[in-house]
Amino acid sequence: MSFKLTTKQKALVFGVPVGVLLVSMVAYGVWGNAALLVPPVGIGAFLAYLIVETRHYNLGLFVRQTTESRDHYRQVEAILGLTWAIDPSVPLPPSRGWAASPDLLREVYRNVLEEPPTLVVEASSGTSTLVIAYALHRLGKGHVIALEHDASYAERTRNHVIRHGLEGWATVVHAPLVMQQVDGKQMQWYDIRGVEFPAPIDLLVVDGPPDTVQPMARYPAVPLLRSRFGQSTRVILDDGSREDERRTAERWAEHFHGTKEFLQLEKGAWLLRFGSGRSPEVKP
Ligand SMILES: C[S@@+](CC[C@H](N)C(=O)[O-])C[C@H]1O[C@@H](n2cnc3c(N)ncnc32)[C@H](O)[C@@H]1O
Repeated sequence: MSFKLTTKQKALVFGVPVGVLLVSMVAYGVWGNAALLVPPVGIGAFLAYLIVETRHYNLGLFVRQTTESRDHYRQVEAILGLTWAIDPSVPLPPSRGWAASPDLLREVYRNVLEEPPTLVVEASSGTSTLVIAYALHRLGKGHVIALEHDASYAERTRNHVIRHGLEGWATVVHAPLVMQQVDGKQMQWYDIRGVEFPAPIDLLVVDGPPDTVQPMARYPAVPLLRSRFGQSTRVILDDGSREDERRTAERWAEHFHGTKEFLQLEKGAWLLRFGSGRSPEVKP
């Protein structure tokens, strides 16, 4: 194993002793023999500082690694449980990262089974579309329409749907983002002009568009789909720990008279419930 010092390390190895020597010489000139105490006291203080700093660093590292392995374990546990429950014909595409995390997918799956919807709409598409379709397949009723702004990603999700034999339960619609009037402002959202919604929406899952599109990127979902909600509609908003999504959930609940609950998941999520009745006029 070669042990090479960087330029900075070399400067420290040679510079520190030279510095100590210079300080000692100056101290000797000023205080005489008493200055002999300066180097051992200085080096002792420096070593004590190093010991404290290393212990602190190791403790931080230990806490971080423990938290990370606990979080990884939770996600592994969630994907194993989910995969076991849905028993897919071929492996599911990746979760986490750009896709929804396993704990959210498990939550969505459970939500669909516990309150069977007739129509689920998704803002975005991907692994979540398959999980919802598997839940509907298990129930033997319902359909999910996934709105996807990216044509190639829509094609990719469509292929997954076919590979899993879920064509009867899920439709992926390529709906490009277009400027629309939302609460008196111009915002980008999926173009749903050509989309047919065969029934009122019972469950809306919002995991798009990406936050890079605009501030409060996902806010338009409820104002633009509220008129299509059923008697009782749930909305699941992913990435709930982000400030934009927290504000989005707050505004939805306030402007459209819903209740909201924070779900303690890897990325955080919001579960909102809206009752029947027309939405109030929202001031710009
Ligand atoms: C957060 S992702 C939605 C993921 C989806 N709910 C799932 O579980 O797979 C939002 C959008 O990001 C886009 N997207 C997905 N994966 C991507 C990637 N690897 N790079 C860039 N964009 C991606 C897609 O257009 C998708 O609709």
